[in-house]
Amino acid sequence: MFTRLDHVGIACHDLDRAVRFYRTTFGLDVCHRETNEDQGVVEAMLRLNGTDDGAATYLQLLAPTRPDSPVGKFLHRNGEGIHHLAFGTPNVDREVADLQAAGTTVLFTPPRPASMGSRATFLHPRECGGVLVEIVTKKG
Ligand code: CO
Repeated sequence: MFTRLDHVGIACHDLDRAVRFYRTTFGLDVCHRETNEDQGVVEAMLRLNGTDDGAATYLQLLAPTRPDSPVGKFLHRNGEGIHHLAFGTPNVDREVADLQAAGTTVLFTPPRPASMGSRATFLHPRECGGVLVEIVTKKG
């Protein structure tokens, strides 16, 4: 069961430029920065509300570390913009099992390490009306 919107992932070419835009235009600051070499992505998390105990909602700015990474390919195809929606759940493993039982294809089984020590998996856009959906459980 999804219990909240964890973050909206936004693909950008230049992370520092995007961070400056969100700070200058909306007054949002980076609360966490991380590179995931496995995914070929560098990210900045901007907290919108709540606290860091897992109840918060974030914007996740994503820039590729190499052109052939998933975000690099996305930018090549679509340009900058919304990349995915991430829904929070208390138990991503149970969510995966329920979705697979219902016939939905889950991209990463088991879920992979993700932002800020969380674990996450994805559902392909063709399964979700054109939206790349991430399912995430915060670090306990
Ligand atoms: Co994400």
